[in-house]
Amino acid sequence: MQGFGSYEETYRDFDWQKAREMVGYREGEVLNIGWYCTDRICEMGLGEKTAMIWEGFSGETEKYTFNDLRINSNTYAAYLKSLGIKERDRVCIFMDKLPDLYFSFLGILKIGAIAQPLFSAFGEEALFTRMEDAESIAILTTKKYYRKVRRIKDQLPALKHIIVVDDENVKLEEREKTFILKNAEKVDEFDVFPTHSESPSVLHYTSGTTGKPKGALHVHGSIFAQSVSARWALDLREDDIYWCTADPGWVTGTSYGIIGPWSLGVTQVIYNGGFGSEKWYKILEKYGVTVWYTAPTAIRLLMKDGTGLVKQHDLSKLRYMCSVGEPLNPEAVHWGREAFGMPFYDTYWQTETGAIVISNFPGMEVKAGSMGRAFPGIEAVVLDLNSHEVINEPNKVGLIALKPGWPSMMREYWNNEEVYKSKFINGWYITGDRSSIDPEGYFWFVGRDDDVINTGGHLVGPFEIESALIEHEAVAEAAAIGKPDPVNMEVVKAFVALKPGYEVSDDLELSIMNFIRKRLSPLAMPQEIEFMEKLPKTRSGKIMRRLLRAQEWGEEIGDTSTLED
Ligand code: WT7
Repeated sequence: MQGFGSYEETYRDFDWQKAREMVGYREGEVLNIGWYCTDRICEMGLGEKTAMIWEGFSGETEKYTFNDLRINSNTYAAYLKSLGIKERDRVCIFMDKLPDLYFSFLGILKIGAIAQPLFSAFGEEALFTRMEDAESIAILTTKKYYRKVRRIKDQLPALKHIIVVDDENVKLEEREKTFILKNAEKVDEFDVFPTHSESPSVLHYTSGTTGKPKGALHVHGSIFAQSVSARWALDLREDDIYWCTADPGWVTGTSYGIIGPWSLGVTQVIYNGGFGSEKWYKILEKYGVTVWYTAPTAIRLLMKDGTGLVKQHDLSKLRYMCSVGEPLNPEAVHWGREAFGMPFYDTYWQTETGAIVISNFPGMEVKAGSMGRAFPGIEAVVLDLNSHEVINEPNKVGLIALKPGWPSMMREYWNNEEVYKSKFINGWYITGDRSSIDPEGYFWFVGRDDDVINTGGHLVGPFEIESALIEHEAVAEAAAIGKPDPVNMEVVKAFVALKPGYEVSDDLELSIMNFIRKRLSPLAMPQEIEFMEKLPKTRSGKIMRRLLRAQEWGEEIGDTSTLED
């Protein structure tokens, strides 16, 4: 697939019809993501190329070629089909980042069923809400987790199969079975179900501020956007070794941890372990990772451990680093340059958008603190907060909105047409995020709609305050929220976690206040700093400002099923 030219030319010349041609698809043809990422790659003569380099908790490694990926996903497909599972049935995957997760994901798609990934650390309640809503017919899980399912299965009448994939010796109860890939007869040829570009593929639940989590339903045609953006925004090329640190329980882990890279025949490193600075640098070094896609929370934790640790590793193969999920503080971009000799390239999107919609691109000037520009084929604008007219004026903050019609856009919220419809105003899809846009089309993120602080009638985004705070040498993480104030409605309150080696003291607080005073407008200055051991975060690493806010306001916290332990 061709590379990214100049931004202006690429944006001007590109449309989604071109994307379909770039992935070799003709209108009306059969299109199946499972086939596309495996059989097709083998047909291109890359069957023996490594698709997955897997490393487990305790350092054990496994390698799989694209042909292994093809056969193992066929084997899963054939097994699920033999259970009577058919197109559009929802099949959950509930396990750690094991090779089976990846094989079964592609296998589910090959039979035309809908893959419903669930984050393995979910508790019963989180699991139950999502499976009940989706009326999932089956769940693939492991010895470590099947008991969670067992405890809720009686309340899930639609659930017919609970399949343990890593242990034959589990004492099975009703509806439970085991399927052990290595003991199964391998299926070399499988008749892939003839899905087309509008057939449903993946159902990802996303948490809102209030109400139940919403299931964003995607289609097989999402691959057009995922493939082209993996090529252009993540700069993936044939000989790359790529590491996406996200878990497939979240959309980054499927769109760019499975579909995007494998649709391009790229080798992926998958590390089934948690965060650790030393460990992560070792992974980058050992496998010669060239392209790395991670998140601001992780980057801030790495920053906490300093540049010295980075320099102790040979990371000479690394050539491109990207970030997603939260605003990327300017400090993190500068630190990237200092520690790795290159910036982090920020990318912006949502579960709902299925693929990157605003991004920095290779070769483009990175403006630290900006998310970059609209992805080719995406019309992205800033709308006035009240009138919903397009403003697009420098320094004017409004809502980020997108013109519907790109291939990876969700097609519905499962069982929730009303909320789905409420996301569209005047023909725009409203993201729920606020930003301004500069004359060159760069977006400057301000905050999520529900995180924005209203102080004395002025709207202040948490992002600039937090970015100023973490520039201070003692600050590792920061969150800013509005707390109630009789005069100004809200005033800014900051929460701060310190780097190792720093102690909370009045002097330190004063030093931080003086430091940020030079960087912030008086309106944005916190009235108060509260020090915390660490900030509350979602399991996908986002700071949960609304939880801190609810505590200040004495309000209901809302849905916390994605809160970290
Ligand atoms: C929300 C979507 C899609 C990737 C994983 C998150 C925030 C995402 C950025 C960024 C500032 C960002 C937004 C967005 N977000 N990327 N580069 N800069 N904020 O998917 O869980 O659906 O969250 O994450 O608020 O709406 P998600």
